[in-house]
Amino acid sequence: MALDLEGWDGEELVIRRDAPTGAWIAIAIHSTLRGPAVGGTRIRRYPSVSDALVDVLRLSGGMTVKNAVAGLPCGGAKAVIAVSTDLIGSQREALLERYAAMIESLGGRFDTGPDIGSTEADMDVIGNVTEHVFCRSRAAGGSGTASPWTAAGVLSGIRATLRHGMGSEDLNGRRVLVQGLGEVGGVLIGLLHRAGARLLLTDTDPARVEAAMVRLPDAEAVPPEDATSTECDVFAPCAIGGILNSDTIPGLRCSIVAGAANNQLLEKADADRLRAAGILYAPDFVINGGGIIRGVGAERLGWTDAQIDARVEGIGETLQAIYRDAERLDISTAAAAMRIAHEVLTAAPPIPAGIA
Ligand code: NAI
Ligand code: PHE
Repeated sequence: MALDLEGWDGEELVIRRDAPTGAWIAIAIHSTLRGPAVGGTRIRRYPSVSDALVDVLRLSGGMTVKNAVAGLPCGGAKAVIAVSTDLIGSQREALLERYAAMIESLGGRFDTGPDIGSTEADMDVIGNVTEHVFCRSRAAGGSGTASPWTAAGVLSGIRATLRHGMGSEDLNGRRVLVQGLGEVGGVLIGLLHRAGARLLLTDTDPARVEAAMVRLPDAEAVPPEDATSTECDVFAPCAIGGILNSDTIPGLRCSIVAGAANNQLLEKADADRLRAAGILYAPDFVINGGGIIRGVGAERLGWTDAQIDARVEGIGETLQAIYRDAERLDISTAAAAMRIAHEVLTAAPPIPAGIA
C-alpha cells in the first residue's frame, strides 16, 4: 500500500531517525478531540520506512474509533519503532528512553501502551522517563499487561457474533481457527478451550504452535499459509493486519471472522466483500477494545476490576447492536460500527479524564 500523507485526516506526525540504532520512530496522533490520544507502540521490522509510516497512519485512525466506540475519554494515536535488527539489552533500553523523551516532549498529547513487539518490561523503561505510558508492571506502579482483557473481550465478541449469525452463542464443538498465538491469541485459546471449542491453531513461529499444542493436545495445527482457506466456523485473526483482502476473502471457508488483530481489512471495500460472501465480520476496532478499556480504566479512570470486566463483557452487546444496525440499514458491519464512532466523535463532548 502506498504512503498517502495527503489522505490522512490526523493531527500530528512526528518522525525521527534514531542515529545510534538506525531505527525509525514515528508517532501519529490522529485525534485529541475526546482527550489525550492513546495508542500502543509497535516495534518490528518493516520492508521500508514508507511501510512503517503507512502502518502507523492507518493504526492511529483505528485507535480513534476504537476509543470512541469504547466510550473512553481519549483520542487515538499509534507509534511505530521500525528496527532493522531485534534489539535487546542496553541497546533496546537506550532506544526506548530516547523514544520516551519524544513522548514527553509532546506534553501529554500522546500516551502509549504495548502492542506487537513491545512488552510490559518495555513500558517500565518508558515509564522511567515519562508518565505518559500505560501497562507498566505492577511492581513499577502500572496495571500490568492488558492482553488477557483483550482476549476476554474477543471471547465476548465471538459469542455475540455466533448468537447473531448462527442462533446460539454456545462454543461447544464449534471449530475456531486462531491465527497468531502471542499475547492475545495465547490467552484466547485457553478461554475457547474451556468453552468447549474445537481449536485450529496457526502461527508463523513454530515454537509458539508447539507450545500451544503441549498445552492443548486436542487442538489441530494448521500451516500458516492455510490460515485463510481452512474450513472452520470462526476465523479469529490475532496476528497481523490486512489479512482480509481481495485475494483471501474468496477463499475463506468460515461463517464468522472475529479476532483481535488491528486493521484486519486491507481496504474499505473488503467489508462489502465479506458481506457479499455471507461472512459475518466483527469489526476489529470494536471487538479488540478490551485491553485499552482495562489500561485506561484502571490507570486513569479509577474503575474497579468489576467495572472493567463489565465493560469488557459489554463488547458483545455493542457488537449485537452493530449487527442489528447493519441489517436495518443494509450496510456492512464495519460501516455500521463506523457510524457509531462517528456519532460519538461528532455529537458527544470530550469527557474530562477521571469523570467518565
Ligand atoms: P504478539 O506479537 O504477542 O503476537 C502476535 C503473534 O502472531 C506472534 O506469535 C507472531 O509469531 C504471530 N504472527 C505474526 N505474523 C503472522 C502470520 N502471518 N501468520 C500467523 N501468525 C503470525 O501480538 P499481540 O499483542 O498478541 O497482538 C495481536 C494482534 O492484536 C495485533 O494485531 C495487535 O495490534 C492486536 N491487538 C492487541 C492488543 C493487546 O492487548 N495486546 C489489543 C488490541 C489489539
Ligand atoms: N495495543 C493496544 C490496542 O491496539 C493499545 C493499548 C492497550 C494502549 C492498552 C494502552 C493500553 O488497543
